[in-house]
This record gives sequence, structure tokens and C-alpha cells, in this order.
Amino acid sequence: MRLVNIMEVPPGSKIAKPVYDSKLSLLINSDATLTEKLIKKLMQVDIRHLYIEDEISKGIVLEPMISDELKLQTIVFMKKIYDSQMQKDNTPTEKVREDSIRELKALIDDIITEIYSKNNQKYYSTELMGAEMYHYNHAVEVMILSLLIGKKMGLDRERLLKLGMGAVLADVGKTRVPQEILNKKGKLEPEEFEEMKYHVQYSYNILKELVGLSSLSRQIVLLHHEKLDGSGYPNGFTGDQIPLLVRIVTVCDIFSAIVSDRNYNTRISVDTALEILRSATPVKLDSDAFHTLIQVVDIYPPGTLIELSSGQLGIVVINNPNSPTRPVVRIISESKLKEDDLIIDLMKDLTLFIKKVLPKLP
Ligand SMILES: [Fe+2]
Repeated sequence: MRLVNIMEVPPGSKIAKPVYDSKLSLLINSDATLTEKLIKKLMQVDIRHLYIEDEISKGIVLEPMISDELKLQTIVFMKKIYDSQMQKDNTPTEKVREDSIRELKALIDDIITEIYSKNNQKYYSTELMGAEMYHYNHAVEVMILSLLIGKKMGLDRERLLKLGMGAVLADVGKTRVPQEILNKKGKLEPEEFEEMKYHVQYSYNILKELVGLSSLSRQIVLLHHEKLDGSGYPNGFTGDQIPLLVRIVTVCDIFSAIVSDRNYNTRISVDTALEILRSATPVKLDSDAFHTLIQVVDIYPPGTLIELSSGQLGIVVINNPNSPTRPVVRIISESKLKEDDLIIDLMKDLTLFIKKVLPKLP
């Protein structure tokens, strides 16, 4: 199994993971064979990447850390919360309800349980829905990543829950940002960016009266765009004015955004994303949070196409848990572009290293 861009799907490929729409209806089931017609249908709902099983990815398994079912349920629940806040005739609708908060807490609690049960597994995000679900998917990704960092840093379960609630709700105020700004394809103009910045205050206002939400979660919501050097918003806080739990969410928010398909951008690989974050650490981003992120994410998830320092092309088969940059790789012979069964464990062959991730087969 491997993740491919829908524009690059080899004809006749078999789907390896089902894809769902915003109502959790199955768009395409695993084992289906991709046809032109199916690809068109998937592109209509803005599916940009999907999992296929082809010649070179045969036998490669992607075991999700958080079960697909629980993740989908949480993404769709976030959509429900966002939908209840959408502007209609410029008047905000009902408040987020207390029972929604309770239900969301229960979902996050289940996610924490799954995280505890998969102790040393690295995390990679799984693509289960199209880019139309970006905002809800992003909220859930940021929450999961924050929980993984928090757990690794030794936070207790109660604080993890507060961290998760703050992380998942941080952007709910985006529902009050004009749609044309929120969904703009391309760079925002300065005044549009100013409007976008208001989303933290909107989020805070939407949530401030909810009894079921801790002050820590609310603090995360309000401050998740602050940077350690004071260049963030809304307050331009610096250093110690920004609590650790907020700093964790900030790192995860940026990371998740750049590794996802968004309106205006296509995902970039995890290794490149980490380098982008590294360049902002420790001036803007918290060093401990960043270095813990490196430990919890799978830098080269199974199925990743790579080029080795020798110039050989390969596909990642499985990760070496103690050495994330040196997975087990299967070599793809260039002439026939089929796996030729040469397996290299980069932990054993230290003369080789991964030179770069390839977005697609050459
Ligand atoms: Fe945000």
C-alpha cells in the first residue's frame, strides 16, 4: 500500500483504503479498481491523494495509530460543531452546546486510550477524506499530535484531555471569518490576513462561557498563534508569557498545515516540514516541543518513495523505531519500475542514507 497523488495514479490500480465523504458515506471501497470515471468522481469532492496497492507497494502495510473509525467519527463531529457556528446572514447561530463539549471530550478520551495502547508506534496521518474536509481534519490532526507530544513529555491524563480540547477547538472561530478569505486560493492580502488573525478571538468568544471547558483549554485557543519572539498574535506575547501547552499546539498546528492538502497548497513531505520548523526553532517555536515532535512522527511512513545516496530508488517498507531516518527500504529497479525484491535495512548498511523523498515515480 502507498499514498499517491490522484493525478499520478497508475491505470488499473487497486484502492487499498476506503475514502469517505463529509457524511461518512463510502465514496470508494478498498479493493475497487480505479477507472477514469471513478477518478473523476473522486476529484469532484477534492480527493487529492489516496492509498493504492500496486506492483511496487505490494505487501507494505500502514497500520494507523488511531483507528480509522474513531478518527473519522471525530472529524465528522468537528464538522458538526463548525456547522453550528457558520454565519448565516451575518448573525452567529447558536453557541457551542455543553453536550457537544461532553461528547467531544469522550472522543478525545478514546483517542488518548488508543495512544496509550500503542506505546512506541510512530504517528503518520492517514488520508481518509478529501480536501473539502481540511479544516476538521486539521483540527483533529493538531489534537492528536499535541496529545502525542504531551504524553511523551509526561503530562497526566487530565492535562492531556485539556490539551486535546484546546487543540481541537482552537480554530472554531474560523467559521466567523468570511468564506472568501478562509477558502481563498493563493496568498492573502495584508488586510485579509488581518481579518484571518481575528479567528483566535472569535474562537475564544465562542467558547468563553462554556462551563465544561477548562481555562487551560481556553488559553490554548486564544494564544495558539503566539510566537516566542513576540512576532505572533493576538497579543505579541514573548517567552514565558506563552505556556508550554500552548507552545506544543503551535508547533503541531504549523506542522499539520504544511503536511496536508489545503485549498492553496499541496502537502509536502514530513522530512521537509520538519526542516521548515527547525529553521523557526528556538527563535519562534519551542525547542522541547519541536524535538519531541520529531520523536513521535514517522518521518518516512511505509510506502514513501525515496532516493538513496547511491542514486537507487526505493520504497519504505517498515520503520526502525530507534532510528527514524534509517528505515528498511525495498529497491525499485529503474528499468522496469517494479520492485526487484532487494531489501536494504539502513540500520545495517550504514554507508547509505536517504537523500530525498520523491513525490512520485520518475
Ligand atoms: Fe489558528
